[in-house]
Amino acid sequence: MVRRSLATVLASLAILVAPLASAIDSASVVRGGRLYDNWSLESKGRLPNHPNPAFNTRGVPVATADGWRCVECHGWDYKGNHGIKGISDRQKTDPTAIAALLKDANHGYGELLGESDRLDLANFVVSGQTDVRKLFELARQTKPAAANSDKAYATLCANCHGLDGARLRQMPPLGESARQRPYEVLHVALNGHPGGNMPALRTLGDETVAKMLAYLQTLPSINLAASIANGGRLYDDWQVHTGGQRQALPHPAYPPKAYYASAASETWRCKECHGWDYKGNQGQYASGNHATGIKGIRAMAGAEPVKMMEYLRSSSHLFGAVLKHRDLQDLANFVSYGQIDMDSLIDARSGQSRGDATQGAAHYRSMCAGCHGLEGRFVAKRHVGRISREDPWHAAHNMLNGHPDDTMPALREVDPKVISDILAHMQTLQERR
Ligand code: HEC
Ligand code: HEC
Ligand code: HEC
Ligand code: HEC
Repeated sequence: MVRRSLATVLASLAILVAPLASAIDSASVVRGGRLYDNWSLESKGRLPNHPNPAFNTRGVPVATADGWRCVECHGWDYKGNHGIKGISDRQKTDPTAIAALLKDANHGYGELLGESDRLDLANFVVSGQTDVRKLFELARQTKPAAANSDKAYATLCANCHGLDGARLRQMPPLGESARQRPYEVLHVALNGHPGGNMPALRTLGDETVAKMLAYLQTLPSINLAASIANGGRLYDDWQVHTGGQRQALPHPAYPPKAYYASAASETWRCKECHGWDYKGNQGQYASGNHATGIKGIRAMAGAEPVKMMEYLRSSSHLFGAVLKHRDLQDLANFVSYGQIDMDSLIDARSGQSRGDATQGAAHYRSMCAGCHGLEGRFVAKRHVGRISREDPWHAAHNMLNGHPDDTMPALREVDPKVISDILAHMQTLQERR
């Protein structure tokens, strides 16, 4: 009897306490988490175009836009970044005080964030800070095979991210992110992605999220060979390859007096400024209609791809505005690992392939004739015999990497001898009327 009434008392207490403890709505917490990640993306709010004064004083090199993100100063583990204090001391404190603090001199979000945004952020600060280090440890101890997370992933996430985690081209493959930036991935898995409608896993519990991380860490990275070949197709014509809009204004780096200045979209093709032989003003584009005086990219073979991506985004090239993360990554991989020394395939003076046409004939029949026909008359806008004689570097680039927005196979993993043999054979194919 006594026991029962005690239980009853506890139960009624729980009813009293529960609304207080859960007074903070989890939807508000996860939204606060997304604002913490990137409030201007989440609230579609105006981003100041001056650097955050809190950074100015410290002289930390951070992009203007990132300098306004909470996470930049306070970290994915909420323990602080750039020597700035974290937010973990403010867990389980009064949210109204946090909302007020966001208007202080350190922050200045009074005019940038609305009342309810500030409250969501405050709710995240006081009750949304999951111990991501602990979850990371938990993930390390989890055996993904036993975790059943493959099914959770396949049903909750794969519709957007693909079963291999690599479908969305605006971001790195999930497997790569999960291995390289686990705290960030945990934060996003718990709260969702700013400005997006991806599900937040917070209410499913820490263990589910840790298992999810463990599973994500087993997903593949990009396939380097495919990335390089794709980069080669983008190098040829990224506008065609990505199906995007053709550029209406010439690329600012294209010399206004050069031949193609009035053909705006042509001036945006990498090959137009750097050549099919990648040698720019030192190669086939040294003279003639394609001459721009711009140097080639040969010297960048072997460069760090991450640095190359930054370079392509920078004001010298402006590709960050028109290409997605993975396109830039593929281009960078092409520049770093994909450039072939054209002189090894083609005699630079005569344009003759160094290969053996007789050997090449059989390869051509088995690999190319199905689309291009035995005489090279089909599919391509120009006869492949003619293009192989007139512009063998172009033909070789296409053979190595495939054709933009097309299924033509890329031969870059095939013995280069085979490529020069096929090219030699194609150079013998005559046009007939
Ligand atoms: C440019 C850097 C910067 C950005 C961006 C920034 N903060 Fe801060 N924040 C600070 C500094 C500096 C302090 C003061 C730390 C101290 O007292 O040493 C602080 C303090 C805090 C504190 C109090 C920490 C404590 O223990 O007293 C909270 C909570 C906080 N910030 C939340 C946020 C939120 C939420 C955002 C995003 C809307 C944000 N901050 C964006 C620099 C920043
Ligand atoms: C409705 C589509 C959708 C679903 C479903 C979805 N996501 Fe996302 N996810 C996105 C988009 C879009 C992005 C952001 C791409 C960007 O950066 O703009 C993203 C980004 C992410 C990121 C950030 C990765 C990085 O490198 O920045 C992670 C981690 C992530 N998702 C995990 C998951 C997990 C785990 C699930 C399943 C629980 C999931 N997503 C379900 C659409 C979705
Ligand atoms: C409108 C002309 C133009 C286009 C299009 C163009 N670039 Fe460039 N690129 C330049 C100029 C100009 C330079 C700077 C050369 C210098 O520093 O003198 C350069 C430099 C480079 C370099 C560094 C070369 C070195 O040795 O320093 C790389 C790599 C590069 N570009 C890659 C690309 C890629 C990849 C694309 C296509 C996505 C591309 N470029 C498109 C004009 C162009
Ligand atoms: C699946 C069909 C297919 C196969 C197989 C194929 N190609 Fe192509 N190829 C194409 C298409 C489509 C184009 C682009 C047509 C266009 O837009 O002009 C093309 C373009 C080319 C071009 C560039 C022509 C130009 O003017 O831009 C060359 C060179 C070429 N192919 C060579 C080859 C060689 C060599 C092989 C065999 C190793 C081969 N192709 C196999 C479909 C194929």
